[in-house]
Amino acid sequence: MNATKDFFMMLSQNKALNGAAKRWGLKLGAQSVVAGTTIEEMVESIRKLNAEGISATIDNLGEFVFEKEEALQAKQQILEVIDAIHQHQLDAHISLKPTQLGLDIDYKFCLENLRDIVAKAHDYTIFVNFDMEDHSHLQPSFDILEELHQDYDNIGTVIQAYFFRAEEDLEKYKNYRLRIVKGAYKEPAELAYQEKAEIDANYIQLIEYHLLHGKFTSIATHDHHVINHVLQFVNEHNIPNSQFEFQMLYGFRKELQLELAKKGYNFCTYVPFGNDWYGYFMRRLAERPQNLNLVVRQTFNK
Ligand code: FDA
Repeated sequence: MNATKDFFMMLSQNKALNGAAKRWGLKLGAQSVVAGTTIEEMVESIRKLNAEGISATIDNLGEFVFEKEEALQAKQQILEVIDAIHQHQLDAHISLKPTQLGLDIDYKFCLENLRDIVAKAHDYTIFVNFDMEDHSHLQPSFDILEELHQDYDNIGTVIQAYFFRAEEDLEKYKNYRLRIVKGAYKEPAELAYQEKAEIDANYIQLIEYHLLHGKFTSIATHDHHVINHVLQFVNEHNIPNSQFEFQMLYGFRKELQLELAKKGYNFCTYVPFGNDWYGYFMRRLAERPQNLNLVVRQTFNK
């Protein structure tokens, strides 16, 4: 199983394939988990979700950008997404990756790009979530978040439960709106739990702590064991529905997404769109090779 995971992780980081895929259009079954390549297609998908009582967090796909021009282009696209949310009155907010806005190029350059995005979103009272990437980007992403939080309150981030430092980060940022996840990247054993049972146990612990002591909590998982545990926990501790939401990725466990929304829980779907879909898609295959079923179905049901 680990060999399969490593294989898809390796593919996700392959620069040549990432570059080439931008010219392919959505292929390999990615269309079942990516909501189109244009703003119009994305808006249409979100309108449908909103009609079902589900909000959205929009990811204009892109990461590991090494050219200033590409980062500025990504910023422009995200500003257009913010305009689209406002113009179409979508129940939606933004998710973005700091490396897409130039974190690997220059810290200050990235900070200013993010400031422009957060400031515009602030004008429209739209929330912006910083996705968290691999360990090498963790601290600078938190640093940018802290700097911007001095001027803007419409930002939050992600805590990845596989990191040993996650508990400390959760405590430090407990007054931020946080999304808590297990963690999607391949991380070294000196920094992160490697065993699923250890990650799951830490995940539950972090969620419980933030529900009891923190601000709004986004519980982002497809794991029904975790979801059932949370439902029992909030019931036992009289935690109101207004204090948390569940999140899942677009195209995954749609029936469960609808079921939770229908039961009155806040539900938010993570909606990725755009040409830069390849790395995102390969990480989903690495997480759960059964997701290959999606690919096979998509390939044969044209
Ligand atoms: P996991 O993959 O551990 O599966 C546990 C169990 O759940 C499975 O054994 C199975 O029973 C069930 N299950 C899972 N998927 C299923 C499916 N598709 N169908 C049926 N059953 C299924 N990571 C990161 O590092 N940084 C980030 O910023 C984010 N952001 C983010 C946002 C959102 C909205 C989500 C949902 C996830 C992320 N992640 C992330 C990814 C996250 O860290 C993690 O890698 C994946 O969510 C996979 O872990 P799960 O908790 O979903 O279940």
